[in-house]
Amino acid sequence: MSGVPRPEIRPSPPAATGVGLPWDVAVEDAVAEIARARAEHGDTFTVDSGRERYLFTFSPVGVESFYALPEEVASKGVADYLMLRRKLPDEIFASRRTLPSMLFRRGDVATYLAHLESALDETEVELGEAGSVEVFALTRRLGHRMGLASWAGPGSDRGTGFERLVRAFDTLDGSDAFVHPDAMAAVAASGKVAERAALDEVTLVVGAALDRLDGGEVEGHELFARIAAAWDDEPDGVRREGVAHDVALIHIASMSNLASALGWALLDLLARPDVLDRVLDGDRDLAERAALETTRLAQRSIMARSVMSEVRFDTGDAVYTVPPGTTIATLLPLLNTTAGPGLEAWDPDRWSRWRLADTSGLASPQLVTAFGHGRHTCPAQPFSLSAMTAAATRLLGRYELAPESTTSPGPVPAQIGGVARAASPCPVGYRRRSAQP
Ligand code: HEM
Repeated sequence: MSGVPRPEIRPSPPAATGVGLPWDVAVEDAVAEIARARAEHGDTFTVDSGRERYLFTFSPVGVESFYALPEEVASKGVADYLMLRRKLPDEIFASRRTLPSMLFRRGDVATYLAHLESALDETEVELGEAGSVEVFALTRRLGHRMGLASWAGPGSDRGTGFERLVRAFDTLDGSDAFVHPDAMAAVAASGKVAERAALDEVTLVVGAALDRLDGGEVEGHELFARIAAAWDDEPDGVRREGVAHDVALIHIASMSNLASALGWALLDLLARPDVLDRVLDGDRDLAERAALETTRLAQRSIMARSVMSEVRFDTGDAVYTVPPGTTIATLLPLLNTTAGPGLEAWDPDRWSRWRLADTSGLASPQLVTAFGHGRHTCPAQPFSLSAMTAAATRLLGRYELAPESTTSPGPVPAQIGGVARAASPCPVGYRRRSAQP
């Protein structure tokens, strides 16, 4: 899109011309595209795509400066909104009263993990004794069930209410904005008709849950009760829609990365029987480090900040003055596997608790991450790792699983953001173990 006035960065960084981002132009492999630009221009360069100017940063000082950016100067919230609104109707963002960042009060995680256990009970009922299942479909359904049980009220994780919500959230999947960015032009052209219909469906089902809550079904639904209470001062119609849209944004923002990461975690453990044996023998610490390592390698995240007011941005070799309207960005898959020696291999022993055990080969420890650094570090990291550990231990302990293909499906090539989604189906055969841990 030539002729669009762009914010002018001073001094002028190298410009990667002819490079576009996948929501603006057809790109075969979005990460490879930025990798090529970096190989040509070095660790700092601009990309003009659509109406936006992006300042990409990959140097150790640049990445540290990135994570240190204050939200009011360079906003993650605004960058996320600009990304997600390509897929989601505007009304889902307006007037939210309970946000995804408010889900981690004391005691909340214990409730979610209890819901995970009952979601796993239900999963076992659905799996039965033996069969074949697509591994990411399995983890996605499990993620829906655990999440909806945790915040969508009575009746949302079972029966027709659950099936209706699963269908609606599969249409209303905000992660399409970065997993299938190439599809966003068609979503815009449709006026988001399908997404709006799905949001109406969520409002109906969550409205029924609200009736049950008002009728006294509170136990196990404390978070839903909190979401509902924030709308108590509104007339019935406004309250129903407000509660349902809060639930919708929470569910959309929360679950899909976790479900994908769990899918890769199962496959990684299945590929390493020695590690799996130790996990099934009860080595919880190893299971959690394995989940973290899988997540690091599955990262496709673009980390972005929308500049709100002029900022001086240090990349080590220059200090740039970056005006509002620019997006400063870095890309985890270009750092996580190459920032130091040996990082391309899967090795849970590189982690000690949630930190890299040895950072001596890295110019900065912030060059590698699974859940982020600095003020925006994922607040759900402890919960996500506990949930992945519990789900992998339970499923692999109760069932023998065998992938039906010898090759890994690999990530969706156009994806730029979040945890990798599999490019093709990954069926696994399963049989219930006779002796269960
Ligand atoms: C394996 C699963 C997950 C991964 C790999 C992951 C990764 C991340 C990363 C890398 C960031 C920082 C992004 C940045 O700095 O731009 C982040 C932030 C965030 N994540 Fe997660 N996440 C996961 C699961 C979840 C879940 C389950 C929830 C909610 C239930 C959640 C809620 C959030 C929120 C609210 C933020 C923003 C925090 C802030 O801006 O201060 N995440 N996540």
